[in-house]
Order: sequence, then structure tokens, then C-alpha cells
Amino acid sequence: MVQPIVRLQNVSKRIGGRTIIDKLTLDLPLGEVFGFLGPNGSGKTTTIRMMVGLMSLTEGEILINGHSIAKDYEKAIRYVGAIVENPEMYKYLSGYDNLKHYARMIPGITEHRVHEVVKLVGLEGRIQDKVRTYSLGMRQRLGVAQAILHKPQLLILDEPTNGLDPAGIRELRDYLRVLSKEEGIAVFVSSHLLAEMELMCDRVAIIQNGKLIDVRTIRGTGSMTDQSRVIIEVDRPQGAVEALLAAGHSAVPEGGQAIAVETDRDGTAAINALLVSAGFKVYGIRTHVKSLEDQFLEVTGGERIG
Ligand SMILES: Nc1ncnc2c1ncn2[C@@H]1O[C@H](COP(=O)(O)OP(=O)(O)OP(=O)(O)O)[C@@H](O)[C@H]1O
Ligand SMILES: [Mg+2]
Repeated sequence: MVQPIVRLQNVSKRIGGRTIIDKLTLDLPLGEVFGFLGPNGSGKTTTIRMMVGLMSLTEGEILINGHSIAKDYEKAIRYVGAIVENPEMYKYLSGYDNLKHYARMIPGITEHRVHEVVKLVGLEGRIQDKVRTYSLGMRQRLGVAQAILHKPQLLILDEPTNGLDPAGIRELRDYLRVLSKEEGIAVFVSSHLLAEMELMCDRVAIIQNGKLIDVRTIRGTGSMTDQSRVIIEVDRPQGAVEALLAAGHSAVPEGGQAIAVETDRDGTAAINALLVSAGFKVYGIRTHVKSLEDQFLEVTGGERIG
């Protein structure tokens, strides 16, 4: 990986003798939507507060584009846009006037940039309306527009889907993808909802009791999601399992005429060819792609989240 936009190195936070964050290590590249998934109280907000310099670290280091947030705050924070708590908005002003108000506080923000962010979050149609007439999802988008005004390379959102309906969640997902792919920025989003993270993110880190349990790739050429459980129906399941085991595959009987194999796409074709050439009748092959939830349950041994 080239220099990550954000690097957490062995980050710990203790408050009153209690360890809230325990040796967290993470790297995020540009252009990725990165999910930070964990149940209530697992330490998501605490981590984010440390990332944006709202809270000190007990141990470790957070580097943003190579600059330490603790030792070199001014330089580091320049690359960051964030919504940690509810964004401050003037409800009696229009969305546009709110953005202009913030733009005035940051040097170098042009009128053009204000229009650009409005377009990016899809608020063109309503930007002249007063914020008090906005739905929750629209306020959320205005918050994102405000957070990206200064062209940060890292956008951090703490539970951005809270309170949104499915349509709002989908819109959020779409424009976060636009931001990450077209503007090339890294997006760090926290959530306690598995299904959402799975749809929204390229990679997901799972945190529990302040500890990083796992990081999984959801999209692209990632490792885990390529591996699937393939169910094959054959005339002689026991014989098929033996033949596959002998050929180095991990096959188990599934009951009835079904057997289950852990493999990828090419492996599925090879197994089919092997069975047919060995004289088995293959009646059906179906692939069960593991969802993040399946993977999460495997990793944590069954403790559910969300
Ligand atoms: N200032 C503080 N003083 C003491 N304990 C704190 C403080 N801030 C957070 N905690 C504790 O740290 C743990 C993690 O809290 P945090 O808010 O980071 O969790 P979270 O993952 O964001 O949860 P949620 O999904 O509910 O937002 C909790 O047990 C919380 O009580
Ligand atoms: Mg939180």
C-alpha cells in the first residue's frame, strides 16, 4: 500500500483504569469506503473522537497522511472532514446559506466549490429551502456537504445511517461511493448494522470490547468473499466425498444426496469435471456466498451484533 491516508498504530484508550480501546491497528488507503462495525459500546465513537483530535490517546499513534494527530494537529486535521455528533446547522437559514456561512470560515473556499458539494450530495433541488423544512436524510447530506467543503482526503462519519429510512440509506450509500471513487477520498463510516456495512463498504473492520477482531474485504478481489460454500447434488454422495477428499478438496456430506465443498469459481468447475469423469451423476450445483454476517458469526463464535 502507498502511504495510507490514515494509520492507527497500537491505539489504546483507558479511562479511569478501564481499557476502552485496546491496541487498535488499522490502515486506510484513499478511494475506499471503510466500515467500522461493532455493537453498542464497543468503542466506535471513542476511536473516531481520537481520530479527529477530540480525545487524547493513552497509547499509540494516529497518523493522517503521515502527520500525527496528537503532535501535529493542525497539519493532520487539514485532511479530515467529519461528522461526529449531530452537525450544527442553522435551521432558519437555507442549506445554501449554511454552507456559505461555513465556507467563510475556511480560507480559499470558492462559490464554485459550494455548488460542487451541493451537487455531490444531490441537494441541488432543495438547497435554497430552509433547513427546518429538510428531512433527516437531507440534513445528513447537508452535513456531509459541509464536512467536505475544504476537500478533505478523509471523511469520517459516526453512524451516518442512524434514523434514515431504507431509501435514505441507499442514497447515502450511493453518494459515499461517488465521493470515494470520483473524488478519490477515503470514507470511514461506523455502524452497528451488519447488512448496511455489507452494502456500503469495500472493507469492514469488526470491533468488539475495544478490540479489533477482524478486517474483511467485501468488494473487489478480496479473499474471503471469493470463497464460497458450494452445494453439489450427486447420485452417490459418500463416494463423491471420498473422491474429492482424495483429490485434495474439502468435501463433507450435507445429508440426502448433497455434499458441501469450500471452493471458488474455478474450483467449482474443476470439481464438476472431476466428478463427471469419475462416473458420478451431478444433478445440481449451487453456490452459497457467505454474507458478512456468516463470516462475523464464524469469527466471534456465534455472538451476534446489531
Ligand atoms: N468519557 C468517557 N468516560 C468513561 N467511559 C467512556 C467515555 N466515553 C466512552 N466511554 C465508554 O467506552 C465504551 C465505548 O463507548 P463508545 O461510545 O465509543 O461506543 P460505541 O461503539 O460508539 O457505541 P454506540 O454504538 O452505542 O454509539 C463504553 O463502555 C462507554 O461507556
Ligand atoms: Mg457511538
